[in-house]
Parts: sequence; C-alpha cells; structure tokens
Amino acid sequence: MGPDGGHRSGAADAVPARMAELRSLIEYHNDRYHRLDDPEIPDADFDALVRELRTLEAAHPELATADSPTREVGATPSTQFAPVRHRVPMMSLDNAFSAAELEAWAGRLAKHVPERTTLVCELKIDGLAMSLLYLDGVFAQAATRGDGRTGEDVTANVATIGEIPGRLDPAVGTAPAVLEVRGEVYMSIAAFEDLNRRQQAAGEKLFVNPRNSAAGSLRQKDPAVTATRALSFWAYQVGEWRIAHEPDRHGGSWPVTSHEATLEWLQRAGFPVNPERRVVGGFDEALAFCRYWEQHRHDLGYEIDGAVIKVDDLRLQDVLGATSRAPRWAIAYKFPPEERTTMLRAIEVSIGRTGKATPFAVLDPVFVGGSTVALATLHNADQVQLKDVRPGETVIVRKAGDVIPEVVGPVRRPGGRRPPPWTFPTVCPSCGGPLVRLPGESDTFCTNLDCPGQRVQRIAHFGSRSAMDIEGLGEQRVDLLVRSGRLLDVADLYSFTADTFAGLEGFAARSVANLLAAIGESRHRPLHRLLVGLGVRHLGEVGSLALARAFGTMDAVAEAEEEALAAVDGVGPVIATSVVTWFASPVNRAVVARLGSAGVSMVEPVTAPGDVAGGGVPQSLAGRSVVVTGTLDGYTREEAEAAIAERGGTSPAGVSGKTWALVVGASPGASKVSKAARLGVPVVDGARFSALLESGELPEPG
Ligand code: IVH
Repeated sequence: MGPDGGHRSGAADAVPARMAELRSLIEYHNDRYHRLDDPEIPDADFDALVRELRTLEAAHPELATADSPTREVGATPSTQFAPVRHRVPMMSLDNAFSAAELEAWAGRLAKHVPERTTLVCELKIDGLAMSLLYLDGVFAQAATRGDGRTGEDVTANVATIGEIPGRLDPAVGTAPAVLEVRGEVYMSIAAFEDLNRRQQAAGEKLFVNPRNSAAGSLRQKDPAVTATRALSFWAYQVGEWRIAHEPDRHGGSWPVTSHEATLEWLQRAGFPVNPERRVVGGFDEALAFCRYWEQHRHDLGYEIDGAVIKVDDLRLQDVLGATSRAPRWAIAYKFPPEERTTMLRAIEVSIGRTGKATPFAVLDPVFVGGSTVALATLHNADQVQLKDVRPGETVIVRKAGDVIPEVVGPVRRPGGRRPPPWTFPTVCPSCGGPLVRLPGESDTFCTNLDCPGQRVQRIAHFGSRSAMDIEGLGEQRVDLLVRSGRLLDVADLYSFTADTFAGLEGFAARSVANLLAAIGESRHRPLHRLLVGLGVRHLGEVGSLALARAFGTMDAVAEAEEEALAAVDGVGPVIATSVVTWFASPVNRAVVARLGSAGVSMVEPVTAPGDVAGGGVPQSLAGRSVVVTGTLDGYTREEAEAAIAERGGTSPAGVSGKTWALVVGASPGASKVSKAARLGVPVVDGARFSALLESGELPEPG
C-alpha cells in the first residue's frame, strides 16, 4: 500500500470504495506514525486523507462506520513496552486549516460560552504527547498517548530527560497525592542536527526530522541510548489528579480555576512551560496570534506545526466537554504544509560558472511551504547517495519559509521494488568533457574552460543585479548568444551592435535597443560591482566593496600583494589568494584590459567620510529589503531598484516575511499588495518613495 491520497472523482458508487480505501490508508499510516515511529508520508498528506474521509462521511453519513479512524486517536500501542491505562483519556485536537475554520469553531463556542471569553493561545509543538505521573510529588511513571486509552510505559527512558523534574518543587506546597502532567516531548533543531551529525559519522541511518528523532529516541530499548539524545519537554495540561489520598476521584479541589493558572502552577512546580503563549480576550486576537506564529515559526529553536487555542475557564471547559476524540474547548490551527510528497522524475546536473556540477531534482510540481516547487537542488554526489533518492520514486519535498526547497528523502514503501540508484554522470551535460571529482572533495567539476555551460553562467553572473545589473541579459539570452558563437566572454558585450543580433530568435528590434542601452549604461558602475561581476572565487559583494574602497582602482587591486589584500577588513587570506590567482591568469588580464578599452569604469567613486558608500550616497536603506510594485513617478523600475541598491538596500521581486516595506506605485500587482497585508509588511505610497530613500524611515501612516 502506498500513500496515494489523490482524490478520485467518478461515479457515485465509487464513493463507498474510496471511503473504504481511505479508512485503510489512514489506519496504515496511523500505525506507521504512532506505533512504528516510521511515517511514510508527511503530516500534511495524512491530514488530507483524514479530511477527505471526514468530508465523505459528512456527505454520506449512512456510509460512515462505527470504527472509522476519524473517531479514533493515535494507534494501537506496540507490545515492546508495557501497557499503561490512561484513567483520563488522552484526546487529540480538532484541526482548523484556515481562518474560516477557526472562526467556525469560535462560532460553535459562542453558543455555549460568553461572547468574549478568555482564550489561551499556545504553540503546537511538533513532538510526542507524554503523560507523566507523580505520586506524592515524586516522578513515578511516563506513558505515551497510544490510542488515547492505553499508552506505552516509557518511564525508564523519560527519566533520562533532564528537563523533567524528578520531584515537584515544594514552592507549590503539599504535593498532590496523584498528579498527571501532560505535555510534549520534543527535540530542538540544534539537538536534531547534532544527532544527525553523530549518526552520519557512525554510518547510522539519518533521521528525517526532529519529531521522528524524538520518537525514535524515546522508543529505545536501552535508556542509556535515550540518555545520549537531548530531549526536551513542554508541559501544557494536567490529566488525572487527586489532592489527597481519598477514594473520590478528585479528592479535594484543584488549586486553580483557569488554564493559564494551571500553566503557572506547573511552572512553579518545576516543569518547563512554553513562554510563547498569550492570554487573549477574544477570537480576533487568537487569530492574530496564529498568523504571527505562522510567519515566525522559524524564529524558534524547535519545530511547531500550528497553534492551539484553548478556553481558559476550566469550568467552561467542563461545560463544553468533548467528542469521542477531541475536546470542544480547544482547537489546533495548523500551518500550511512544509513537507509534501511528489514524483521525482529525474536527476539532472547543472554546470555553474566555476564548472561545478550540481545535481538537482526534477519534480512533478507540488505546492509546499507557500509556493510551487518543481526543481530542488541536491547539492552534490554524496547528498544524493546519503538521501538515497532515485528517479521514478515518490519523494518528500520540504520547503521551510523562505529557505530553498529540498528533497528530504524517498517515501519508503516496505517490500516494494525500487528503481536503480542514480549515478553521477561522467561527462559534462553542456560540453561533453569529463566531469572530475578530486579525492577528498565533495564537489564534481567540469574542467573545460571553454565549456559553453560555464561561459553562460559566468556571463549571466556578470550581468546580474548584484554585479553589472544589465537588464534584459538573462541566462536564456546569454545561452542563445553563446551557443551561436556571438559571445565568448564578458568583454564581447561592449562591442555588441544591433547587427550582432541579426537572425537570432527572441531579439526584437526594440528589445535589442533596450539591451544595448543597458549594456552601455553598465559602463558606469562602480568598481566593486565590476569586481563582483568578474566572478573571482570566494569574492562576493562584501569583499568586492572592501577591496574597491581600499584600493580605489582596478589596477591597484590587480597589482596588490597578497598580504596587502588579506589585510583589508572584510577580506582575508582565502579571498586574497583567490584574487591573486585570478589576476595571474593572462586570459583574465586580457579580459580586464578589453573591458577598460571598451570604456568600462575601473574606479570606485571616492567616498565621503561617514556612512556613505561607493557612490557617495548615504546608506539609508542598509540591509533592508524594499519591494517595488507598479509604476513610480520619476523612476523607471530599474532606476528605483538602483536607488535602493545604492543606499545599501535590496529589492527582490517578491514580498516575503523579510520585506521591510512594499512601495506601491500606479497599477500595482494585487498579489504583492495582498501578501504584504497578510504578512503585516508596511505599505508605502509611491509618492513617498523619494522621502523613503532619503530618510530611510517609514512615513507615518495616513
Ligand atoms: S493540548 C485534549 N497543547 O497536539 C487536548 N496539545 O494534535 C490535549 N500538542 O496530542 C492537547 N502542542 O500531542 C495541546 N500546546 C499544546 C500542544 C499539543 C502540541 C500535540 C499533542 C496533542 C496533539 C493533537
């Protein structure tokens, strides 16, 4: 059985069949996740299966079965650990996947509780639910959730977790006779990465994410192994409790009446309680909490997959009660998926400007982490081997926020026949020359300096925004020019005329004129941009600016001694050696000489003292990301972006959580504006652009 969750449409009699299939798929994956700690599919795919079954059950109640997995929690416990009966069942949470679903929950609440009831907003920690039993204040037993009624006894393993107190702090007074604290065992991202480094060094299997590592670590037969795994815990609930040794269930009264006070009590008793929570007065603030953490989830040192909203008043919680699987007084707001599965069609290799051959995955496009991903880097040969991804198989793709998408690994189907492993090509896909991997290095290179693939990348880099910023000189066009023999190196650009493009497809007269103008204009870039454009290994924007400011002219940089280069702040021995090596090459020197003859500026404009950069402009936007949309009065798009760059800012094409401001001109892109609104990115009227450049301050709204 596979994880195929695709919705099938068809005749009405397909519905019972699909429901049966969904039930068995859900049971299968539930078991892999909860009992075997070895999920085959990402949580988001699993959630999609459950939602589909729920929808079908709602539409066809007559087809819903009594033992449907939608009515159950977790999975049957394994037999490896002794069973532990939960006297108060450990329930799951209902999920909301959108603001509308969250609002629907609030609407249901409103029928039973006062309109603006206090809510506690918490993070939904991506770990494992754990029940900790304290008898007379002393840690006695730890159990997993299991199926909600019976869990597994993992006391010996949990006892190794330093953050979990061995006894309650006397600060809370006389310890209750029985106290069951519930919370989440998790592994921090740093601990996860450290564990995987150790696993790799020992030639052991790598864990795919912190949650699986935490689960695997807890399920060790030998607690000594668990002790080597840095596990952590957040307490978020009290389960069973009895104040005194009396037969009745509660045996006295619990000292507090609200959830927040319970959390504070737990903290005083010595349990870690997550500080990133908020007590709010109503639904709107709860939604704002969810949205905030949806944007900031990666600011935390551990993984969360949503937020949990709980009714604060414990008496109201009792009134609201629970369904068979989840309380009505709480809801989980789940963030959009960061992991999805898709088909790995092929692994191809791209050639960079240094000749480095980088394998990348060609995927069936999949929406993950907020965007559609069709290609993902695989870094190098070792990574492909380590991840054991094979073309023709379904793989897990992960995209966390603004981070580049990555292929995590194959979806493992036990017993299934696998396609053969991928092998690194031995010849360059661009020039057919040999690909070489030096012993001890992880990267593979095409060593042919005439390789057209490398040329294309070098020249496209020269024209890129951080270098000479030649609008209209994208990779595709450079590729056409290189392959038709019209462009061999960057100096050739400056001898281009309209005739150069004769007979080339994709170059209309108007765009040729624009391109020639852009090339012409690039002659006036400051030296540091030219240095970036030359593509000297290790020499990026910061190093180029430092060298340009320190030496002032291209000649001075080219003639400088290695020590003098290395002495520049922001440079160092590695960059210095690389610069010297680059200028030692007669081919490179010849290109620089031809650039000079073509009138390309070889000097860095003198900087005034104080906070000004190469162009003599105050760095009012240093380090800030300003996105422009629509037409601005007095600036072409290029001029606006250049003005931002000159002041130390960047102007990426799209709005993200890192955007400092969105400048909105005439006919703006609706998606950028709405995204900015959603992310809380300040929007600046295009008319105020000049003021923004000058002051580096956001205008007061209004
Ligand atoms: S409250 C009856 N609070 O999410 C309600 N659960 O999908 C008990 N979880 O089983 C859960 N963070 O393992 C609660 N702040 C939090 C949570 C949290 C993570 C987990 C927990 C639960 C699962 C439900």
